[in-house]
Amino acid sequence: MKKELPVSKLNSKEKDLVKKAINAKKKAYAPYSKYQVGSVVLDDTGKIYTGCNVENASYPAGLCAERTAIVKMVSEGGKKIKTIVVAASSEEPVFPCGMCLQVIQEFGADSEVIALNKSGKHFLKALTRTLFPFAFDPEKLNQ
Ligand code: THU
Repeated sequence: MKKELPVSKLNSKEKDLVKKAINAKKKAYAPYSKYQVGSVVLDDTGKIYTGCNVENASYPAGLCAERTAIVKMVSEGGKKIKTIVVAASSEEPVFPCGMCLQVIQEFGADSEVIALNKSGKHFLKALTRTLFPFAFDPEKLNQ
């Protein structure tokens, strides 16, 4: 696995996204797993959307932070994800789960993911296509 880097290595725009993701984590509704996650989507027009995980007593009805932020983007007219940040509650940075990668792929095949650890002080960065190289994408439906 790649080595984590300190957040000080990010540029100022990325640092702002990191701050917003850490703030979004505070809104997490995670009474069952007690694992709070925050996320931020930057779209291709520069607009920012935040999200947190929203769990449910009927466990599978819960939603990950990334998909919360993406659904907000799409419902507010955003079209394309440029960068998505995930602020997790693990000692090591956490990349989006498989279901979230599928949804990221739909709206951001060329996007970049920044994954933060619990303290929000260290990150890993990867392209979505690196994390999900054989994604099922909309074009495949027409083949
Ligand atoms: N979760 C996220 O919100 N994003 C991730 O990338 C990993 C997992 C949430 C789902 C659930 O509410 C909790 O974390 C534990 O799995």
